[in-house]
Amino acid sequence: MTSAQIRSSFLDFFKSKQHAIVPSSSLMPTAPNLLFTNAGMNQFVPYFLGDQTAPWKRVADTQKCIRAGGKHNDLEDVGFDTYHHTMFEMLGNWSFGDYFKQDSLTWGWELLTKAWGIPPKRLFATVYSPDKQKGDPSDFDQEAYDIWADIFKAAGLDPAVHIVNGNKKDNFWMMGDTGPCGPCSEIHFNLLPSDDEKAGRALVNSSSPRCIEIWNHVFIQFNANADGTFAPLAAKHVDTGMGFERVAGIHATTKGFKDFSAEPSNYNADVFKPTFDEIEQLTAQAGSPKRYTGSVPTERTSLSEQQQVDVAFRVLADHARCVSCAIADGILPGNADRNYVIRRILRRGIMYGRKNLGLKIGFLEQLVAPVVVSLGGVFHELKTQRVMIEKAIRAEEESFGRTLDKGLQIFNKAATDGEISGEAAFELYDTYGFPLDMTQLLAAERGLSTDLDGFEELMEEQRNRGRAARKTDVIVASTEGDAVVDATKFVGYEIDATHATHARLVDVVKTEKDTYLVFDQTPFYGEMGGQVGDTGHALINGVKIDILDTIKDKSGRHLHKIGGPASVPAVGTSATLHVDFNRRRAINRHHSAAHLIHWALRKMLGTHVRQFGTHKTPDRMRFDFTHFEQLTQAQLKECEQLINEKVIDNSPVVSAEIDYDKKPADVLAFFGDKYGKRVRLVDIGGFSKELCGGTHVTTTGEIGVIKIVAEMAIAAGTRRIEAVAGQAALDFIAHEEAALKAVNARLSSGPHDVAAKLESVLNHQKELEKKLKAFEAKASAGLAGELATTAVTKDGLKWVSAIVTAENTEALRSLGSQVLHKVGAGAVVQLGALMDGKVSLVAYCSPEAITAGQSAGKLIGGLAGKLGGKGGGKPDYAQGGGGDATKLADALKL
Ligand code: ALA
Repeated sequence: MTSAQIRSSFLDFFKSKQHAIVPSSSLMPTAPNLLFTNAGMNQFVPYFLGDQTAPWKRVADTQKCIRAGGKHNDLEDVGFDTYHHTMFEMLGNWSFGDYFKQDSLTWGWELLTKAWGIPPKRLFATVYSPDKQKGDPSDFDQEAYDIWADIFKAAGLDPAVHIVNGNKKDNFWMMGDTGPCGPCSEIHFNLLPSDDEKAGRALVNSSSPRCIEIWNHVFIQFNANADGTFAPLAAKHVDTGMGFERVAGIHATTKGFKDFSAEPSNYNADVFKPTFDEIEQLTAQAGSPKRYTGSVPTERTSLSEQQQVDVAFRVLADHARCVSCAIADGILPGNADRNYVIRRILRRGIMYGRKNLGLKIGFLEQLVAPVVVSLGGVFHELKTQRVMIEKAIRAEEESFGRTLDKGLQIFNKAATDGEISGEAAFELYDTYGFPLDMTQLLAAERGLSTDLDGFEELMEEQRNRGRAARKTDVIVASTEGDAVVDATKFVGYEIDATHATHARLVDVVKTEKDTYLVFDQTPFYGEMGGQVGDTGHALINGVKIDILDTIKDKSGRHLHKIGGPASVPAVGTSATLHVDFNRRRAINRHHSAAHLIHWALRKMLGTHVRQFGTHKTPDRMRFDFTHFEQLTQAQLKECEQLINEKVIDNSPVVSAEIDYDKKPADVLAFFGDKYGKRVRLVDIGGFSKELCGGTHVTTTGEIGVIKIVAEMAIAAGTRRIEAVAGQAALDFIAHEEAALKAVNARLSSGPHDVAAKLESVLNHQKELEKKLKAFEAKASAGLAGELATTAVTKDGLKWVSAIVTAENTEALRSLGSQVLHKVGAGAVVQLGALMDGKVSLVAYCSPEAITAGQSAGKLIGGLAGKLGGKGGGKPDYAQGGGGDATKLADALKL
């Protein structure tokens, strides 16, 4: 079987057992608290928890998983062993409250031993046996044990040999610290040359590549709570996961599960072949051909040259797949969170390709093509997003390629100290873009440690510097002893010009600089999600108190900043609150404009575009997003066109509170971002749906018009668009128009011919400059000729000494040189000029003058000395200046 046949045979098998075959979900996780989709079951979590009803009773699929951060992290081992990957496919079958342990394990056995012909003697099963001393949850999995005992007995094998118990660490599966989980039963495969059962059993769970886990059957029964407790679920489910690359690799190595003489390796699977072939070719193109031989180092230090080559081949084959699939799913390399993990993986790959294989920067992008060849048929997004993946990788390679070689030199130097100091690791991180784990990896290769504490100290210092730079005012404490810390009720989504909210003052908060009022309810939006806080005023006891800003504190209270040392009213007083409505409307326009821009960018550029940060004020909005290259003028124009079409359409903007779990599938919510149980859905015309707590226009027409005013890079892989909406856009347009009108007035042109007129003025200017230069040259030649005629012969040398006018030192130099040539053999020239009130001097000596003992340097030294300035140079040419201009004429007298 080929790798592809193994995959389809798994799916066909479960299809024959009435399973629906579903597509892999995105690597962008669908559950909060996950960095990446890390297991096949992620997409089914709501069914396990009973939050949603599954559309099917049973499904099977192959799921892209990344385990390179968080609870499951295999990154360190990738390349050094042959069976861990950053990204792998998990083949799985699921039962949602349908079949349970009996069918799951029996079918598992049937597929492995009957359909695929794996020798039963080589298989071992583990079952859950909690270590009660350690507080492991639940009980010994007698049910699984009994099922396995029957299966092994029926195959003529001893259950006591083939069943191995494991505690929570090995046999209780959890997706993360919270979520659905349960006891599991793993199937391990003895890959030793001999099928001796005792030897095989001894290697189960021992991290040996000669006996590895190939399939995990999890019996989902609990939900892990954040407080460490496990709550039983209403129904029992099955969640299994088989390592596709492992099984395909074993199948390839053992020639169809028959010949166990060779060392097993996932990389023997043909799914890696196109990438290995391409890497070989790239090494040849780089001028030092290398081949993959499959050697595996037993240690991390002192690798042979070939071992280094083989590690790098595996690293690249793995990382190219991982990064390509992540980018295809919209996870671009970046500075934080999951995006930084992808950047680390990319840089690790770039570093290995460069250091171990001598590849030229730009190589990783070339590995996208073979990844698409091997996986594009299963994961179609690789095909549709291919250009985007290549561009994103290219941009990263270009930027890291600029610092990598220098960084490696710095590392090599630091390594001579016997340890990589915190300073060196920090410099590599901060200046050369070396992720800390990459530095550690390089250090480990030389048997060196890295001073992590030292690194962390410097990182903390940097963070503090950042915090200090950002710090504005810290809310220190409530002035009232028993402060009310209930969140303020926000009643300001729908307000109009005449609104007034009656509220009660519940607290007064004072900081070093400012005083804030807290009310039980408020129409004032507190700064959040990039939208600035409202301003306005409060009427308390007939006194108008201006509210200059509103912020929100951690407990959800809206803090209304008041101006001046005005006497603060007593807690409990009633107040009427008025938001500056015009300002709020201007903010609304910019906020809705940001949603429209987000929508348009995703439509134009692809779904990898993701809001990164925004700022919405009454005058302007900023929208930062993930994208790897500058937007062209044409793209910006298209974006502006798209969003303004929607403005003209006057689409309704509807906001509603919904349960997070019940949000429609097409809502843009970014997992990993924190959302509460109840969320606010902002729907613009049915085409843009985002979870957002901000305030918005009621129809898009209210925005008036949107103008994009700038587009720029703010970090590798992150861009920024600045735009103005409504009155701010009209002001912007008016300003541009006024500037254009001023130009038109000067050029006597109109909007249609201004460009042509300006072009002709600029051309005319160029011509004049050319003419002027020629004229100056001629004039200077004439002047040089005149000066040459003033030459005075003394001791056989011809001296020219004069005060001249020159625009700048360059012109003075050129004039001196021309006089020298005009005078010819034996010439000595010394010229002085006044420039901006200062003296400039040059001197030239012909070869004959030098032979006769003259020197331009000495002449200038003498002249400058007389003027009280300084200067000097070589015997043939020198310059100087400064000093007292009144003495110039005297000084130049021969
Ligand atoms: N969810 C189980 C695992 O990832 C199958 O091992």
